Amino acid sequence: MNFSGRVALITGAGNGLGRVYALQFAERGAAVVVNDLGGDMKGGGASSRPADQVVNEIRSKGGRAVANYDSVEFGERLVATAIKSFGRIDIVVNNAGILRDKSFARISDEDWDIIHKVHMLGAFKVTRAAWPYMKEQKYGKVIMVSSPSGIYGNFGQANYSAAKLGLVGLSNTLAKEGAKYNIHCNAIAPTAGSRLLATVMPQDMIDALKPEYISPLVLYLTHESCEETGGLFELAAGWISKNRWQNSAGAFVAKKNLETGEVHMTPEDVRDSWDQITDFSNPEYRTSQAEFQPKLMSCIEALQTGKFPTSDSGFTWSYT
Ligand code: NAI
Repeated sequence: MNFSGRVALITGAGNGLGRVYALQFAERGAAVVVNDLGGDMKGGGASSRPADQVVNEIRSKGGRAVANYDSVEFGERLVATAIKSFGRIDIVVNNAGILRDKSFARISDEDWDIIHKVHMLGAFKVTRAAWPYMKEQKYGKVIMVSSPSGIYGNFGQANYSAAKLGLVGLSNTLAKEGAKYNIHCNAIAPTAGSRLLATVMPQDMIDALKPEYISPLVLYLTHESCEETGGLFELAAGWISKNRWQNSAGAFVAKKNLETGEVHMTPEDVRDSWDQITDFSNPEYRTSQAEFQPKLMSCIEALQTGKFPTSDSGFTWSYT
């Protein structure tokens, strides 16, 4: 797969995963904006060194790259660097990240805000700045970097996990809004050895988790041959899997009093239907709210007519 003629902006590309993405995009012909604020992993300080080093590495191998040292919260400056240097922007990988791990009650306002500023606001600002160019050229590939901590929660990462799952929501909506402009957006939830992970894993495991096992998916998802959009992928150590939402078929919990015709629904009704509400033996997988419409309409009809759904329509009735 070749990226000649494409311009890729990788945020936080001075270290870790972002550095490997930048090197590999450049190796395959893309012109790369290597963005990095160059601070510490808690969001303090700044330095031009990490971005410069990666740019030098790319150039020494004959690739095309420029550095940008702005924080992602000034997304328009990053995109301006791409436009000024290379005249377009095709690919955005929202990779920049920091950690402020603390147990929930100890998270300060600042710990909360800075995590959201770098991960959520940063991805929003960078992608929003790139969006008009992508719309205009009817081509764009965006990656949001989420985390297993966001999907499942993780002790000590309430701020980080909230922001990381927020990025999945952002990605899902951008996939929908971008569809008619040929802009694709996907989210990844990697696990890889880097300075961030070094805070939570022993060294021998970190050594076994190479960023080179993450980058191939990022390159594939952002290649012009890939039509995937709105996906979420978990990956680590050579393994890649797609993640999706699953609903139980659910229960129609409202009940009808056959004598009075009154429909009612109480906490006790919820309790009595609990096994069925939480029964995943007949699951549903939705990728849009629209896919819930038929079921919603049949529920509304049931409430209006008193003709409650039968088990054929995926519900179980309850009459009193
Ligand atoms: P890293 O710390 O090696 O690299 C992150 C880079 O982002 C650093 O070079 C840092 O200077 C830069 N950065 C931080 N704040 C910035 C800002 N405001 N503006 C511009 N650049 C900024 O971390 P790593 O592990 O490579 O992480 C990359 C991304 O992957 C992050 O979003 C992280 O949350 C995510 N991730 C990483 C996992 C892992 O296992 N390493 C697990 C799940 C998610």
